[in-house]
Amino acid sequence: MGLADRQMTRKIVVANSKGGCGKTTIAVHAAAWFASQNHKVALVDYDVQHSALDWLKSRPAELQQIDGYEPGRAIEESGYDALIYDLPAGFDSNELIPLIHGADCLIIPVLPSAIDVKAVVRFLLQLQKSGVLENFDGRVGVVANRVRMQAKFYKYLTAFMERTPFPTVTTLRDTQSYVSAMAEGKTLFDLPQSRVKQDLDAWYALMHWICEKQARAA
Ligand SMILES: Nc1ncnc2c1ncn2[C@@H]1O[C@H](COP(=O)(O)OP(=O)(O)OP(=O)(O)O)[C@@H](O)[C@H]1O
Ligand SMILES: [Mg+2]
Repeated sequence: MGLADRQMTRKIVVANSKGGCGKTTIAVHAAAWFASQNHKVALVDYDVQHSALDWLKSRPAELQQIDGYEPGRAIEESGYDALIYDLPAGFDSNELIPLIHGADCLIIPVLPSAIDVKAVVRFLLQLQKSGVLENFDGRVGVVANRVRMQAKFYKYLTAFMERTPFPTVTTLRDTQSYVSAMAEGKTLFDLPQSRVKQDLDAWYALMHWICEKQARAA
């Protein structure tokens, strides 16, 4: 899937103040996808738990290279085709202002439970209140994660998706493939196609949205 041109550096920030909603999962998958397209990729892990950097450490050497960064280590952004920022839970929305400066997209994962939906609504209100999105000329997209369509909790998510001004860019299934792939420093892109066939289209929809050239509007 040759979507991303190398004329520009893409900066993608994955954030939600709620823990465990899939920020790191999405950040490492986006990083691995760009790397699979032979792009030079930096994965910037803002979490003191270093989950993304731990994943990177366990990544098999034969897979395409991704450079890991933590805050404080200077990064020459223009030297990369893609910069992926993985933010921790509880990240102060005011601190997001310098971070999302110049970003192409802000991705907000959300899980389909009442608690998670309430938390993401609060997070969006905080962003609004602190003026984070006012000067942001990138795009904001929601990713519905760990979705089981038949689950009764799905109704909380659909109600949220219908009300939020931001598009739900993709819906990721709840599957243990993420747990097993990431334990080995891999992503779904690195697993046998037969095993992940039904999940890949959802990822391609997300990567397609990330790589869209037009519409720099919040
Ligand atoms: N679609 C999915 N299906 C199954 N498990 C998933 C899925 N997405 C994430 N997980 C699992 O859920 C857990 C939390 O995911 P992840 O670490 O990506 O969330 P996070 O938002 O980065 O968490 P934190 O706030 O602690 O940084 C992990 O064990 C991950 O493997
Ligand atoms: Mg994380």
